[in-house]
Amino acid sequence: MAGIVSTKSEIKRVPLYIEGLDENVQGGVPEGHITLISGSAGTMKSSITFNILYNEAIRGKICVYCSLEQSYNSIIKQMVNMNFDMTKVNLVIIKDLGDLRLTLGKVKGSGSGALIMVDIGCIRKEILDVKTADNKSWLNVIKNVVKKIKEEIGCQLFCLDSLSALYVLSRFENPRIELFYLFEFLRDMDITAFLISECQPQSGRFSEFEIEEFLCDGIVFVRLTPFRRNVVREISIIKMRATACNNDIFSLEYKHDKFHALYGGQNPLL
Ligand SMILES: Nc1ncnc2c1ncn2[C@@H]1O[C@H](COP(=O)(O)OP(=O)(O)OP(=O)(O)O)[C@@H](O)[C@H]1O
Ligand SMILES: [Mg+2]
Repeated sequence: MAGIVSTKSEIKRVPLYIEGLDENVQGGVPEGHITLISGSAGTMKSSITFNILYNEAIRGKICVYCSLEQSYNSIIKQMVNMNFDMTKVNLVIIKDLGDLRLTLGKVKGSGSGALIMVDIGCIRKEILDVKTADNKSWLNVIKNVVKKIKEEIGCQLFCLDSLSALYVLSRFENPRIELFYLFEFLRDMDITAFLISECQPQSGRFSEFEIEEFLCDGIVFVRLTPFRRNVVREISIIKMRATACNNDIFSLEYKHDKFHALYGGQNPLL
């Protein structure tokens, strides 16, 4: 676990890599924090989070993107269409747990950062019987993979895509307790975590059970807002512990190969 900080400057931050937003959150998310990336379908939750991990991996960090439903192929196709250069990053795919040790050995040998994509969909096809064993098994599989990566090569950033898919795979009988232990697990791992959370527009909620909103350290909310016959993407910080942040609603655009947050608190000229 990270030690107690005594000065502001000791709080290290991971940028969100969204121009116009990072400068409104003191540069980014404090390291070791757990942040929900919440929004409805197609709001670019996965792309925003992938962008953070991709950029951090290029800068030497070990980042783990754990996808439960969408295949690694599909995520990479999305990112390549957004002009991401996959040759710039040490991209490692884990789709078979049998290869885990060998694959991690190669990353360790390379001595550089890596973006490790764990495709739980592929792994599920390999070991179908885990599902029938009991409800908790898939959560344990994910925890064990993270633990193993952390032990073997270290892991600074982690994304779970998505919490909602995890609830389908691993039915939680007592969400309050089980979620508490999941968050505790992530804190013990001492990693900066992004948990993608699917929520319905207009529901006023950012997660399935609401408890996640209190357990997490930060919430980034993305939504699609219709205005006459236009639909605009919007982004706002609902909460971010240990951060003086601007909670205004910004327009979110992906232009010139970068995310931009614009017009915070003002109406864009349409
Ligand atoms: N340049 C681009 N290339 C590809 N997709 C783009 C681009 N710009 C915007 N998009 C939009 O990104 C959306 C998909 O992004 P992403 O998969 O990250 O969203 P999501 O919120 O994770 O979706 P889901 O709820 O399906 O998981 C699509 O609706 C697509 O229209
Ligand atoms: Mg997604």
